[in-house]
Amino acid sequence: MQEGMDKLELQLKEEVGNVQDLDELNNIRIRYLGKKGEITLLIRNMSKLSAEERPVFGKKLNELKASAETMLKLRKKELSSKLSTKRWEKERVDVTLPGKPFNLGRRHPITLVLQEIEDIFIYMGFIIAEGPEVELDYYNFEALNMPRHHPARDMQDSFYINSKMLLRTHTSPMEVRVMEAQAPELPVRIISPGKVYRRDDDVTHSPMFHQIEGLAVDKGITFADLKGTLLFFIKEMFGKDRDIRLRPSYFPFVEPGAEVDISCISCDGKGCRVCGGTGWLEILGAGMSHPRVLEVSGYDPEKVTGFAFGMGVERIAMLKYGIDDIRLFYTNDLRLLRNY
Ligand code: DAH
Repeated sequence: MQEGMDKLELQLKEEVGNVQDLDELNNIRIRYLGKKGEITLLIRNMSKLSAEERPVFGKKLNELKASAETMLKLRKKELSSKLSTKRWEKERVDVTLPGKPFNLGRRHPITLVLQEIEDIFIYMGFIIAEGPEVELDYYNFEALNMPRHHPARDMQDSFYINSKMLLRTHTSPMEVRVMEAQAPELPVRIISPGKVYRRDDDVTHSPMFHQIEGLAVDKGITFADLKGTLLFFIKEMFGKDRDIRLRPSYFPFVEPGAEVDISCISCDGKGCRVCGGTGWLEILGAGMSHPRVLEVSGYDPEKVTGFAFGMGVERIAMLKYGIDDIRLFYTNDLRLLRNY
């Protein structure tokens, strides 16, 4: 029996010495010390020994068991630390390698043009007033002199949330909201940028686009103030050589109303493909605030007058950057966006 035990110990020592992974090591443990392991069986079979032999071999078997447990424990420690070193070496970061360059983001062309327009008007003393994109029919149409069934509503169909609420079709509702919110003796000089929504979709129209509204209300404001303000803006935006032209037009919330053109930036007014041979490009709508709009907003049209204008930001960006398809702004193609 002594011999068998010695052999068992040697065999175990060899196996534990050779094993290279933790699963295999565990198998060895089971084979020797598990429920049916070789050492376990020897201990169990002690009952077959004589009364004299039992204490002698009992002691030796316990020693063998303890030495087996120690061997397994040590090897386990050894293997674990070896394996974690290996993993660490594999995942180690080489801090001396050159870094990966960051892709720097930049502003979207629409944002750039918006900010440029804002800067010009802020320079002239206007302040920015932003408002809701989900708007009441009252502000979007009713208060702007476009009651239910007014034919001017036809050009501005939108998504209705319910019978009283819609995605705003223009930024003009902000004219009323701003005047309503402040005391009527106070003059107004605001621009209101933001998203607007219409049932339109082709190369120059998108169901969502951006507008900037402008409104100035005060004692003695005239059509000449409107024209001077717009001329200054156009020259700042498109260059000192640009001229503007105002054509009579109709918008229910202004009287008189005008369509504003700039001399073509491509041919300088001679006539080309960009301006359709006319020498002029339509760029915004404007006019003198309708007395009824001033009145519903709490201002007295006998005491003050005002001018208003509204322009499409995409339209201006397309002209400025020579982009001929509005959808390019919304497809996030870096080949376009990288250029601005
Ligand atoms: N809100 C008009 C539109 O979206 C544009 C406009 C025209 C705004 C004349 C104005 C204005 O303030 O005076 O078609």
